[in-house]
Amino acid sequence: MTKIIYADNAATTQLSPQAFEAMTPFLTAAYGNPSAPYSLGRAAKKALEGAREKAAAAIGAKPEEIYFTSGGTESDNWAINAVARLKKSEGRHIISTAVEHPAVLQPLKHLEGQGYEVTYLPVDRQGHICLAELRAAIRPDTILITVMTANNETGTILPVAAIGSLARQAGLIFHTDAVQAAGHIPIDVTEMQVDLLSLSGHKFRGPKGTGVLYIKKGLPLPPHIRGGGQELGRRSGTENVAGALGLAAALAAAADNLPANTKKITAMRDRLIEGVLKIPAARLTGDPVNRLPGIASFIFEDVEGEPLILMLDQKGICAASGSACSSDSIGPSHVLLAMGLPYELAYGALRLSLSEDNSEEDIDTILATLPQIIERLRSITAKD
Ligand SMILES: Cc1ncc(COP(=O)(O)O)c(C=O)c1O
Repeated sequence: MTKIIYADNAATTQLSPQAFEAMTPFLTAAYGNPSAPYSLGRAAKKALEGAREKAAAAIGAKPEEIYFTSGGTESDNWAINAVARLKKSEGRHIISTAVEHPAVLQPLKHLEGQGYEVTYLPVDRQGHICLAELRAAIRPDTILITVMTANNETGTILPVAAIGSLARQAGLIFHTDAVQAAGHIPIDVTEMQVDLLSLSGHKFRGPKGTGVLYIKKGLPLPPHIRGGGQELGRRSGTENVAGALGLAAALAAAADNLPANTKKITAMRDRLIEGVLKIPAARLTGDPVNRLPGIASFIFEDVEGEPLILMLDQKGICAASGSACSSDSIGPSHVLLAMGLPYELAYGALRLSLSEDNSEEDIDTILATLPQIIERLRSITAKD
């Protein structure tokens, strides 16, 4: 059997041993409901609160600022919709960017249908917004700024601390979608000056279907799900105890191993980029330096992303074209279009995203395989 080379860690990751170990007891013998008064319930409650403390410590937050959710999409939706409701009487204008994930863009679109106005800041060739443009977009009726920490398609890291400082000076609520960044670059909610931050467990080797919304203490964000009053009354429903434990263990492990993993992964990524750019008419997308350690993203002239992914798969290489979360919609990447790339090229993206589990041999195999596939696809296109 062909060895699988997994280079799609921005789509999802393998559960870490720390997460697995933290979760197992709560999927088996320790199955109590954290709201129950007897010892089995109290043990679950204690573990859940321990997970909250651990997750809080990993991002410089207080435990009571951590709200467990079902993932990045829920956290983004909660943050955006709840601020809109909270600030309705003060204004209906929101500032975001053209390169956000659909988990942000779709709730914004929905709000636009309800009479809210959204300014989508443009980005340059590397996927950066202009801070002066952000400042100029602020209006008396602006209620929220929502800008991602790092882009999921290109890995470009945005200047979130500077945006946070600008938002604070203007007295505006600032939300960041840190789903791709958390566990991969340092995250500190105080340094970033954020009021709301979304993260997702499965992007840093925690379990799927788990996430966090950080809500800065004192922000009177309305409840998102009403019911039995769990999560300080803001997100009711019996808690996913094992999930929260897995997320917290994975996040803490990622934070502990960050320097070593960053060094290893960045070195592999840079060798990969150097090798791939030897392919004729290949271009790197995103910021060449200020990018997530694991993400290498490219476009190849005269090559479409979809057949490229399928041919890589035949060779045992898992990769993505654009955002895996929207892989069932075969449109061009809205991120690459916003970065000014022509329509034809925005169809042909390749994202290779690495983790500490990848090896130098994986990079060798990708570099030996990819040029042949690109050549083959181009020869087919040339015959058409
Ligand atoms: C930037 C970003 N935001 C949000 C999400 C959605 O996260 P989840 O899969 O946990 O719902 C993703 C998933 O790829 C993402 O990359």
